Amino acid sequence: MTSSEKSRNRRKYIPNKAALDFEPTMDWTKLEAKNEYLQKNFEFKVDLISYDDCIEGMKALPDESVNMVLADPPFGIEFHKMETMYNRKSENVVEGYQEVKIENYDQFTFEWIKEIPRIMKEDAGAWIFSGWTNLKDILFALEMNNLSVVNHIIWKYQFGVFTKRKFVSSHYHILFAVKNKKKYFFNKIEHYPEDVWIINRKYMPGIKKNATKLPTNVVLRCIDFGSRPGDLIFDPFMGNGTTATASKGSFRHFMGFEMNKDLKEIIEWNLNKVELGELYLPYSERFDSSVEKAKVKFNKKQKSQEKKENNEKKSELMDFI
Ligand SMILES: C[S@@+](CC[C@H](N)C(=O)[O-])C[C@H]1O[C@@H](n2cnc3c(N)ncnc32)[C@H](O)[C@@H]1O
Repeated sequence: MTSSEKSRNRRKYIPNKAALDFEPTMDWTKLEAKNEYLQKNFEFKVDLISYDDCIEGMKALPDESVNMVLADPPFGIEFHKMETMYNRKSENVVEGYQEVKIENYDQFTFEWIKEIPRIMKEDAGAWIFSGWTNLKDILFALEMNNLSVVNHIIWKYQFGVFTKRKFVSSHYHILFAVKNKKKYFFNKIEHYPEDVWIINRKYMPGIKKNATKLPTNVVLRCIDFGSRPGDLIFDPFMGNGTTATASKGSFRHFMGFEMNKDLKEIIEWNLNKVELGELYLPYSERFDSSVEKAKVKFNKKQKSQEKKENNEKKSELMDFI
């Protein structure tokens, strides 16, 4: 076989082969992940939340000190007035949600996003949540502060507020933006990770919370793709502390801010409920739907090949008789 024939053969597309051979870019056993977590040292106090304004607070953090940013900023849609719509029992709503006036939203967005590139390590990514109404302000601020959007993820959930004269909004945007497009960290832990995520919001009746709580699974998914065990995840708008609990549960350190001091009790309760590393499973042991689909197809193909070969053998035998 000539070398060009060989390379042509090498490049031949074999259906499902890539999925069957898939391995996560980086993986750690539970013990390795725990060791990564325990061995990390930081120049400042981590695994805590500061009950202050994040814009001022970020200014005190050292340069290039965080591995990943996860931010779910206030919506700027006067959400504090709608809290009881999302949580029907008003006694379960924690008051004091710090909202931003619509007319100030662009300035507010610019100010907090301006602080982020300096504290991000060179390979860090920022995962920013936004509804569609204020998306333009976030995109503008990212561009003006030299952060490049690598992915624009749509997170689809199962319910939104009932509407009469327009479609019900049941999706959110997650922008994955980086400092350095050539160097950013991304652990490809699935064979075919698409940019539309269907993850339901949990209805949690009877539980005290600020009504904007993100599902832990959405936050964990960002953390799994965007960081390694032992890394420091920074969240400027902690809310109920979802980023803190997801970080602790997956052997990551966390640090962040929340202006509403009334949430302290809930955040601490949520954090105490989660054991260190209890949400972590090595990536190669997780269910990957595209790999599973490929296995089914591959098995089918193998069976039909065997059947074909058996039929051929049979007809050869018949000819012989
Ligand atoms: C959309 S919520 C975050 C929800 C959070 N991701 C969770 O899962 O619970 C936004 C939070 O930012 C807080 N906040 C608003 N302005 C802030 C600021 N300048 N600094 C720190 N926190 C702020 C609000 O009080 C609110 O709790």
